[in-house]
Amino acid sequence: MACQEYVIGNWKMYKTSAEATQYLEQLLPLIEKFNGHIFLSVPFTSINSAASFAKNSKVVIGAQNMNDATHGAFTGEIASIMLKDAGACFVILGHSERRKYFGETSVIIHKKVVRALQDGIIPVLCVGETLEEKDSGMMKEVLKEQIFSALEGVSPENGEKLILAYEPVWAIGTGRSADYLTIEEAHNFCRNCLVEIFGEKTGSLIPIVYGGSVSVENVSEIIAHDNVNGVLVGGASLDARSFASIALQCKKLKSCS
Ligand code: PGA
Repeated sequence: MACQEYVIGNWKMYKTSAEATQYLEQLLPLIEKFNGHIFLSVPFTSINSAASFAKNSKVVIGAQNMNDATHGAFTGEIASIMLKDAGACFVILGHSERRKYFGETSVIIHKKVVRALQDGIIPVLCVGETLEEKDSGMMKEVLKEQIFSALEGVSPENGEKLILAYEPVWAIGTGRSADYLTIEEAHNFCRNCLVEIFGEKTGSLIPIVYGGSVSVENVSEIIAHDNVNGVLVGGASLDARSFASIALQCKKLKSCS
């Protein structure tokens, strides 16, 4: 079981690099007591300044997307080694907004996950069902397809380096987070998929975080589940005080083997 909580902020297309620095100035003193992992996924243009500012702090800076190629004639794209060069340590992959607005398929997401692992950047793989899929009882089927296709051929040794995020699409940005039982069912199911793919040892260690309308008000209930190892926070991560408060509430006591 993953022992330390992961609190991951996803800024999406918000904040300039000056705003990112101001935010970190405010955030760092507030999270001194937090002993888990704080990841902030910032726009490409802020990676460098945010990573420099957050150096030697508890905050790890990452990106929200990358291309699966190492280099080439792909106008407007960014390679994982460029992200690393700018100071990113992780990258969100397969976010539902990428799947929906930018046509990212399972095949593309798989290639990106493989490339990120090859280049030593932690993939935060997002999976989750839409409202229609949920209403037609297809949650598990969708999660299984998304998890298995993204992780096809990934070795347990590499599997250890990834983070999985369960983000029901209908809960993202809607103010309506998934309820207690849904989170429990989905996270247990994701855990079983990871164990099936990587075996008990690795599969039970990979952090699974929940995302979708996480807030200061609901985080303590969400984090209470055994198989919830942290949260992926969109809107509420944009304010340093809210994000810090979410992180501090994630100090869950777990018996670690
Ligand atoms: P939200 O976004 O917290 O604003 O719902 C979560 C996400 O998109 O990762």
